[in-house]
Amino acid sequence: MTVTELTESSLGEALTRRALDHALAGTTDMAPETLLVPLSYYRDDEVLAREEDLLRRTPLAVAPSAQIPEVGDYVVRAVMGTSLLITRDANGTAHVLLNYCRHRGARPAEGCGNSRRFTCPYHAWNYDSGGQLVGLPGQEGFEGMDPAEHGLVELPNEERHGFVWCVLTAGAELDLDAHLGTLGAELDQFDYASFGYLTEREFESGVNWKGALEAFAEAYHFPYVHGESLIGLNTVANTSVHDPFGRHHRLGFPLNWITALADDPTGSWDARDNMGVIYWVYPNLILANSPVGVELIEILPAGDPTRCSVRHGWMARVPATTDEERAGYEAIYEGVHAAVRDEDFTMLPSCGEGVRQGQHDHMVIGRNEIGVQHMIRVLAGELGLDLDRA
Ligand code: FES
Ligand SMILES: [Fe+2]
Repeated sequence: MTVTELTESSLGEALTRRALDHALAGTTDMAPETLLVPLSYYRDDEVLAREEDLLRRTPLAVAPSAQIPEVGDYVVRAVMGTSLLITRDANGTAHVLLNYCRHRGARPAEGCGNSRRFTCPYHAWNYDSGGQLVGLPGQEGFEGMDPAEHGLVELPNEERHGFVWCVLTAGAELDLDAHLGTLGAELDQFDYASFGYLTEREFESGVNWKGALEAFAEAYHFPYVHGESLIGLNTVANTSVHDPFGRHHRLGFPLNWITALADDPTGSWDARDNMGVIYWVYPNLILANSPVGVELIEILPAGDPTRCSVRHGWMARVPATTDEERAGYEAIYEGVHAAVRDEDFTMLPSCGEGVRQGQHDHMVIGRNEIGVQHMIRVLAGELGLDLDRA
């Protein structure tokens, strides 16, 4: 791709030049002022209750399309404590089904794989990949029951921009255009549906879910928390370009080699080759793009203001076709997962403790932490919390 073509892209020359200028000058995008945030934002049960309500009404990206690429592929995952069965039916259409049997509630599916049918382990009711009830033993016991009325409950869902989105409340409205706004076209530039899904791991951590997300919205901590790993070694500390896309945002964290463009502008000006391009897809998903792939970091509250669940997946920009390539991607994932688990999420529980035990009034978020400020302002606004009355 040439520089001229890239100027058409929001990930092209103009974005890279902003990051290069910051890297050369030792500057960063800044918010107009510091932001004070009351500790209650992170520790109140009342705030958590509002968040849980909000999260059940807001479209969430519950699986990347690349995780269920083929007809019959499925994956089961818990989101906010709800078991979802995400499928691709015989026509190639994705579905998000509540994974609760219509007989007496057991889970018809577990794990992931490829199957045309899901048989509930309790009494063997049988569902197809669209959730229709297609068979049950001892039918004479259920005379008068219409099987068509007893399929798995489907949640409002839609597959777009390389993800399967859903709202966790049956019958709720799902308006993805309204939810994503200009971010939809931005995501399309990556063509995530063509990526190769590798793997994911889940864990819980003793930190507020918003506080955990904030760790992926600033480069201020990079030299201290990631000083010994590739994130610290490859990036320009405390430097970022920040662009809101409505409630969502994009951050660019310049990589050290970006400065080579100052001497030799014939190199690649594609932002993905010169910076970590990180999106916050409101409310709970981080997409951290590197030149070779993308980390998917989903963070949600886990029943307590200072407890969260984390799912950390990875997809390759070019799907592996050989064992050797796959092993290479696995090594990359092990590296980035170690940074998240052993660096960010080793630090973050101490923030949870500070929030629980602290007797100060407020946190203070710097002008340099412009992405963190954006997250807090957006979520406080959606939750109806007045930060200025902190
Ligand atoms: S609970 Fe599923 S078949 Fe009985
Ligand atoms: Fe970090």
